[in-house]
Amino acid sequence: MEINLGIYLVLLITSIKDVSCWNDRNRIASFPMQFEKPDSLKSPLETAPRLLASGGPSNPYNRSFDSLRLPMLGMMENATIKILFDIQDGIRYVLQTKNVYTFAYHGTGSTGLSAVIDNMIEPRDKVLVFVCGYWGDKGARTAQRFGANVVRIEKPPGSRFTLNEIEAGIKQHRPNILFIVNGESSTGVFQPLEGIGNLCHKYNCITIVDIIATVGQQPFKMDEYKIDVVYMNSQKGCGGIAGLSPVSFSPRAMSKVKRRRNIARILHTDINAQADAWFITKPVELKHDALAHSISVSLLYMLREGLARVAEEGIENVWERHADTHSYIQFRAAKLGLESFIANPEDRLHGTSHFNAPPGKDVFKIVDYMLEKFSIEISPGILTSFGKIIRIALIGSNSNRENAARIMNALEIALNSADTNL
Ligand SMILES: *Cc1c(COP(=O)(O)O)cnc(C)c1O
Ligand SMILES: *[C@@H]1O[C@H](CO)[C@@H](O)[C@H](O)[C@H]1NC(C)=O
Ligand SMILES: *[C@@H]1O[C@H](CO)[C@@H](O)[C@H](O)[C@H]1NC(C)=O
Repeated sequence: MEINLGIYLVLLITSIKDVSCWNDRNRIASFPMQFEKPDSLKSPLETAPRLLASGGPSNPYNRSFDSLRLPMLGMMENATIKILFDIQDGIRYVLQTKNVYTFAYHGTGSTGLSAVIDNMIEPRDKVLVFVCGYWGDKGARTAQRFGANVVRIEKPPGSRFTLNEIEAGIKQHRPNILFIVNGESSTGVFQPLEGIGNLCHKYNCITIVDIIATVGQQPFKMDEYKIDVVYMNSQKGCGGIAGLSPVSFSPRAMSKVKRRRNIARILHTDINAQADAWFITKPVELKHDALAHSISVSLLYMLREGLARVAEEGIENVWERHADTHSYIQFRAAKLGLESFIANPEDRLHGTSHFNAPPGKDVFKIVDYMLEKFSIEISPGILTSFGKIIRIALIGSNSNRENAARIMNALEIALNSADTNL
């Protein structure tokens, strides 16, 4: 065996040397380069350790982040297929659902949003969207682009909808689909979901819920709440980095998909193609015929390990940890004299807290000060709240009292500094 290997290596080396690429080299040399190497790429990549607390991507759990360096498996190996099933199990666990059609799109949460809308909506379907912030608005605009008849019910940023308001909207508009955001992270509002599923069963419509700012942060139980479709992302409550968008479809949602007379507009996010690729509808034996697009095995590791980390701790303990961090932030903020943007404490999200800009202070200067002096990223708000609020988000691995204390101590110094005055 050793001798055979030796001969093989000798043959290999000779054959590598023997092959001439003289012709190809000549052909390449005959095309003079028009553009030089960019100077920007000559220096090494610059980065720094940050505490990411803006509400955008959070620091991933080490177990998830470290997995990105593991050796890459082939796309179609049995070991890779096992990871696909592990991820489905993990998503079902964090969602508390038995839904068979549960998998993850490649892309961020916004890809999940477009994909669930495309798969659930047929042209002229009436979609009732409850809007009290950026993410509700984005749901409405996405549904419009996919040709739905969109009806918006709006309330000012910082508010949420009561069950009575939701029922009145359904009765008046009789939608085929209801779209609502569980955690409107643009304003910090928590929208309770209890009762909405029952209403949608009563009035025969499908519920689509954006749970990105609540999943893996505070209690969400898909089957108990009778929610039909949800989408999320890998970089917040799932504890990883951006790149995948887990989704889940109830049997009711799937029966609408199966009844539709036209097809979804985007081929590669079509749920039928994805269900094959995730071996929900296709047997593993036919794996070479199951591809919707190339899969990033490294991103699959990342999500699997994030979900495994959450499962290891127990989802109910993760919810409790976020509630505890939230209480601590609120306590420290009150001591600093910061006023919460959301008046009613019960309406506040546990992962994302919003405070009004203190009088005489420049929010952008505070945000810059926190980054430059303490390597902490917080947010000056978006859209209607842009520049008017301080947003602090401690999500996933970041949610603990140590990080909360580090941020509030830094914020206290920032607020006391003349550098952050208007
Ligand atoms: C972050 C966020 C999104 C967008 O997710 P991406 O992964 O950035 O595309 C959508 N909805 C809510 C509520 C969010 O907080
Ligand atoms: C995560 O990894 C970093 C870098 O190796 C380390 O400093 C940190 O203590 C780890 N965190 C936990 C919770 O293990
Ligand atoms: C992969 O799994 C399939 C189906 O379970 C099995 O038939 C096949 O032998 C496995 N391949 C390898 C290389 O183990």
